[in-house]
Amino acid sequence: VTRHDCHSLIIGGTRGIGRELAALLVLEGHVVSVIGRQIPELSRNETIGFWSADLLDEQRLAQTLKQVVAANGRLDNLIFLQRFKSAGDKWAGEIATSLSATRFVIERLATQFRDGPNKSIVLVSSIASRLVAEEQDVAYHVVKAGLDQLGRYYAAVLGPKGFRVNVVSPGTILKAENRAFYVKNGSLRRLFQRTIPLGRMGTALEVANVISFLCSPQASFVTGQTIGVDGGVNLLSPETLAKKLTGNGKRKPHSKNVG
Ligand SMILES: NC(=O)c1ccc[n+]([C@@H]2O[C@H](COP(=O)([O-])OP(=O)(O)OC[C@H]3O[C@@H](n4cnc5c(N)ncnc54)[C@H](OP(=O)(O)O)[C@@H]3O)[C@@H](O)[C@H]2O)c1
Repeated sequence: VTRHDCHSLIIGGTRGIGRELAALLVLEGHVVSVIGRQIPELSRNETIGFWSADLLDEQRLAQTLKQVVAANGRLDNLIFLQRFKSAGDKWAGEIATSLSATRFVIERLATQFRDGPNKSIVLVSSIASRLVAEEQDVAYHVVKAGLDQLGRYYAAVLGPKGFRVNVVSPGTILKAENRAFYVKNGSLRRLFQRTIPLGRMGTALEVANVISFLCSPQASFVTGQTIGVDGGVNLLSPETLAKKLTGNGKRKPHSKNVG
């Protein structure tokens, strides 16, 4: 479906999953605007509108949001893919970047959407909102859990105004920036093969595809949901995982499990 008449703003679309989403939405015919701090080098040749702003600078951010709407028109879709990666206090930084900035942008832009039945907001959380990922610090877990609930809150209060608000919750995702690490690390890939039901990591495009669906009229009655894009990683019990990892994980023949 080509949607030539549709404006999507991606917060944090200059790198990683956000950049993949920007490229996908352009292919699908959206007018795409992106906010990040550093505009990518090649951006002059692209059809994407880039605005440089720091989410932690509310005054500048408010001006930038006005400029985006003035330049590309009222919004149809608003997607949040920012991730805190700066020096300084991680707790305060995560909360400001992931939670406070998301609330600020939603509240500033809720009046700047086009009238119509397909107003969509998508937040990107993580499996770390429910599971503990030891490679991430406590603040990351807390803000991701907060985003899940922020999504449900706005789905309820903005629903009567015609907004659908959903959350996408990725597992471990392969993106341009981390591909070399995982390609080199065969033992880690083999572990993922054994512990993720779909047998592999996901890709940035697979996350982008679900966001694109949530922004489309095909998702017209979907709101307040948190949709995992994780290959089923959170389905296995600790016992099953332990058995698989110690080589004791042979599954019983299917017929013996029935009846
Ligand atoms: N990658 C994964 O495996 C994975 C797994 C689960 C969940 N997620 C979630 O998916 C989302 C995207 O992840 P990613 O790995 O693609 O992230 P990423 O590569 O680090 O990209 C983050 C984006 O946010 C922007 N950003 C960060 N701080 C900002 C600030 N203060 N002001 C404005 N823009 C800012 C960055 O641009 P600038 O640096 O130019 O500002 C960049 O465009 C995140 O919410 C992450 O938690 C990712």
